[in-house]
Amino acid sequence: MLTSTKSILEKAYRQNYAVGHFNINNMEILQGIVQAAENLRSPIILATSEGALEYAGINFLYNLALTASELSKVPIALHLDHGKDMENIRKCIQLGYSSVMIDASHEEFEKNIKLTKQVVQLAHRKGISVEAELGTIGGKEDLVHSRGIIYTNPAKAQEFVERTGCDFLAIAIGTSHGAYKFSGSAKLKIELLKQIKAKTKIPLVLHGASGVPQSIVNLAQKYGAKLSGVKGVPDSQIKLAVKNGINKINTDTDLRIAFDAGVRKAVKEHPEDFDPRHILFPARALIQQVVEQRIKVFGSAGKV
Ligand code: G3H
Ligand code: 13P
Ligand code: ZN
Repeated sequence: MLTSTKSILEKAYRQNYAVGHFNINNMEILQGIVQAAENLRSPIILATSEGALEYAGINFLYNLALTASELSKVPIALHLDHGKDMENIRKCIQLGYSSVMIDASHEEFEKNIKLTKQVVQLAHRKGISVEAELGTIGGKEDLVHSRGIIYTNPAKAQEFVERTGCDFLAIAIGTSHGAYKFSGSAKLKIELLKQIKAKTKIPLVLHGASGVPQSIVNLAQKYGAKLSGVKGVPDSQIKLAVKNGINKINTDTDLRIAFDAGVRKAVKEHPEDFDPRHILFPARALIQQVVEQRIKVFGSAGKV
């Protein structure tokens, strides 16, 4: 059975660690993530973006996650990432997702509140929790994009949480989606995080948090990837964010680079081998390796 995201995150909130949200698009990505969580006895949040639903189909992804949760000893939640389309949000609630995100952060404050409240009503009726977003996270990826960062205002965050009744809040403190996060040195606004934490009493979420680890980038590049200028959030900054109140950390880009590196390596080293299992096996193993590394940084290892 899938585990409630709220119960996973409330424990993290009480004990001051973060749980990884990892985006899934197919079975191998999911298996790599779940194997890492099992190896380290960590709870995990699997997430599907609207792009993932479009690519693989909601029933396939839901049932993959459900199967993983039935076979696994660690708590596994399934979450809708960046829900913007009410129809998608409704479908996830009906199907039995553990939580949904309503991302109306691009709207002005009152409209964001109105849309978030609608989703909270729908979801809470079914016992499903809701993540909302205030401020905007930079970057651009497929269906999720935003022009720049508008940092979250702490007083507005307090008002937003009180008026919407959302369960978790995604905040903007300097991260952005994708592989090109910073042109200069990477720095999150930890003072701002502390102020938001002091004014809200719910788990806070960090999007755009991939580390873009150099070893995986080097591996992908060795086999032909073009990744010049990529930069992620250093582990030291993630640790500071967790220490100061972040309880859910979203990662997708690191999985994409790991998958890419694995496929490139297999194809390049064995051009005569066209068995998809041999091509995807190293990709799955690299995803597992990257997720294990993240779980250790987040502090959720051994929490099961
Ligand atoms: O936050 C965005 C996630 O990386 C999902 O990206 O919409 O391209 O699947 P996607
Ligand atoms: P990254 O692009 O940093 O992996 O962020 C993913 C994310 O925020 C998914 O919601
Ligand atoms: Zn995001």
